[in-house]
Amino acid sequence: MASLASHFPFLVGCTIDGDPAKNYSDAERKLTVDQFNCFTVENSLKSQSLQPIEGQFDFARPDKLLAFAEEHKLKMIGHCLVWHHQCPDWLFHRGGELADCETVLARLNTHISTVMKRYKGKIIGWDVVNEAISDGGDQQLRRSKFTETVGENFVVEAFKLAHAADPDMPLYYNDYSIEQPGKRKKTIELLKQIQKDAPRIDAVGIQGHWMLGGVPLAAIEAAILEYAKLGLKVMITELDIDVLRRDKEGADVSATQNATTREAANQLVCPPEILKRQADDYAALFRLFRKHQDKISRVTFWGLHDGRSWLNNWPIKGRINHALLFDRNCQPKPAYDAVMGV
Ligand code: XIL
Repeated sequence: MASLASHFPFLVGCTIDGDPAKNYSDAERKLTVDQFNCFTVENSLKSQSLQPIEGQFDFARPDKLLAFAEEHKLKMIGHCLVWHHQCPDWLFHRGGELADCETVLARLNTHISTVMKRYKGKIIGWDVVNEAISDGGDQQLRRSKFTETVGENFVVEAFKLAHAADPDMPLYYNDYSIEQPGKRKKTIELLKQIQKDAPRIDAVGIQGHWMLGGVPLAAIEAAILEYAKLGLKVMITELDIDVLRRDKEGADVSATQNATTREAANQLVCPPEILKRQADDYAALFRLFRKHQDKISRVTFWGLHDGRSWLNNWPIKGRINHALLFDRNCQPKPAYDAVMGV
């Protein structure tokens, strides 16, 4: 059977979460196994899920996901060790005050080494740090509890800890809008700093939460070339093409937006002309990925099908989005055929 994974030379994945045996239908499990050769754990490997209370790790869901991966020979990707969202507050506090650098680093070390050692040799690579770069202005890193407690060096420190926990594990930096010139420049600086001061970094993940009619192809191509020039592999880690209105580019999960007038695409059946435009956008993207296939090691969709996409709830809750290659019944959309034609 033709599949995305067999059609391209790089890995092609989706996201999965929860217990695949219970929370997914037969059709969904079949779609995952038929079309993809890897998946990223969408939420269960984030620090808030893994260690909600200091010292109390919950590996139940990731263990189930790993069993599913092993049963079906899918590769599993770890997302993410250090991120300012979905991160427990205890990490940064001690006795009602902000903890000092040493304390936070020691806790990070415990977290990173416990988690990485558990999945040593099982997960194929980790997003070590997610979304550290600031969106606008001149400052390189976004202000967060990490910069406040550990300081500007927290990214390098995280990579050092990750490498010490598992020297064999491929390590990635992951972020959104880092194809755009401004953020790209800051990212290159950060990547060079990691390469200089930390023992290992293998790849950079461009998230790829793009919008219909607004996929920045030229910027993406420039980014692929510039990141590859650093000696890193490039991954598109969270691909989707939003067909609904979004006020702001990027994927800042704390962004919210007010509901606007009802949009044509915000209904169970997406209008065919929109599906056609989306197919064209996806085809253009995959032509670009093919052109640079020697530099790209993986393309992952952020969700399995439209019904499983986070864009149904961000930046407005309860919309009906159509961002992926398969519809809510696991059927291929025009975008799937377009991609398979590349
Ligand atoms: C999203 C998940 O898909 C949602 O289920 C969750 O509620 C919020 O996080 N960038 C990232 C991902 O790196 O971890 C985010 O995932 C989407 C944006």
